[in-house]
Amino acid sequence: MHPPPSPRGINFERLWTIVPQGFSLGADSVHGPSHWKRVEAFALEIASLTPGVDTDVIRLFALFHDSRRENEYGDPGHGARGAALAFDLHQREFPELETAALEQLVTACCWHTHRTHIDDPTIGTCFDSDRLDLGRVGITPDARFLNTTAAMALIL
Ligand SMILES: [Fe+2]
Repeated sequence: MHPPPSPRGINFERLWTIVPQGFSLGADSVHGPSHWKRVEAFALEIASLTPGVDTDVIRLFALFHDSRRENEYGDPGHGARGAALAFDLHQREFPELETAALEQLVTACCWHTHRTHIDDPTIGTCFDSDRLDLGRVGITPDARFLNTTAAMALIL
């Protein structure tokens, strides 16, 4: 599925050429760009069924959340490093994203492996979209760890 146009006019095509350049784990990584693309597709599917989700934030999350992983295992600081990269690139590459939405993006990246539930539907969609792709590493997604009814419906 080709993503819809960005509501704010963010140049995602350009961002997808920049962010993978600094990814250190290689094209075959289970946390690499092919995973990011599936997360984006899951996020857009959830968003189509969930009121109030910011589609720019969820697409940026898909791109940044694992972008600065340094190994395939625990790496507890990787979400914060992905958030820091997003923060660094914001002014130059996607200034269309206003501060409140940038804060959602940073929160989603920082907490995606440390926190299970959150009230914000945009951040909840970010968390769920990543968890829906756990099948790639042999883990069946569990509804107890999901936030949105749309994501829960996708695994039933
Ligand atoms: Fe991920």
